[in-house]
Amino acid sequence: MNETLNIILNRRSIRKYLDKKIEKPDLDSIVEAAIMAPSAMNSQDWHFCVISNRERINEINNIIKEEIINEGKKFIVDKINEAGGDVFRGAPVLVIVSSKETEKSNIMSCAAATQNMVIAAEALNINSCWIGSISVLGQSSQFDNLRTKLQIPDGFIPNNGLVLGYKADGDFPMPERKSETVTFIS
Ligand SMILES: Cc1cc2nc3c(=O)[nH]c(=O)nc-3n(C[C@H](O)[C@H](O)[C@H](O)COP(=O)(O)O)c2cc1C
Repeated sequence: MNETLNIILNRRSIRKYLDKKIEKPDLDSIVEAAIMAPSAMNSQDWHFCVISNRERINEINNIIKEEIINEGKKFIVDKINEAGGDVFRGAPVLVIVSSKETEKSNIMSCAAATQNMVIAAEALNINSCWIGSISVLGQSSQFDNLRTKLQIPDGFIPNNGLVLGYKADGDFPMPERKSETVTFIS
């Protein structure tokens, strides 16, 4: 099978990683894949913050859990805590993708960039998992402080997270796909 299609068809969201830092050349390749994604009117109104510091990742995890509780969804945090308390599942690297304001086309461009990183990671034997809950960060009272620490430019709001880690052993079955989600018109 075509190598690219093989990577796309066999990729999974995997929440288990080797306890090993990701090499800088691999991170560089993944970020390059992000910035080569299509963007609406080539605006590239996105920002990528690549965090390889576990302490910082834990800090972000705590802010997310606090925000989910503030939203009245403590039951979700209870579920996270049952699964070890970490929305990032111990991944050694977290990429925060931020879009300029909440402009719809910028958010779509960020999703394209995030998916490019997912595919690049898979090609490099790196597991990844998209983290949607990163989007609560912007509403936190701690976000201004975090923005400074993470060097996220003013006016940019996190909308997607991606965790990365070298592949660990395990059996990760393919979640089923719905049928009848496609029509071909000719
Ligand atoms: C926008 C988006 C948000 C997601 N957020 C999360 C998340 O917060 N935590 C998580 O474990 N997985 C998250 N995922 C991964 C999905 O759960 C996963 O893609 C889905 O179950 C299908 O599995 P697969 O990616 O292995 O095919 C997210 C995926 C997308 C596209």
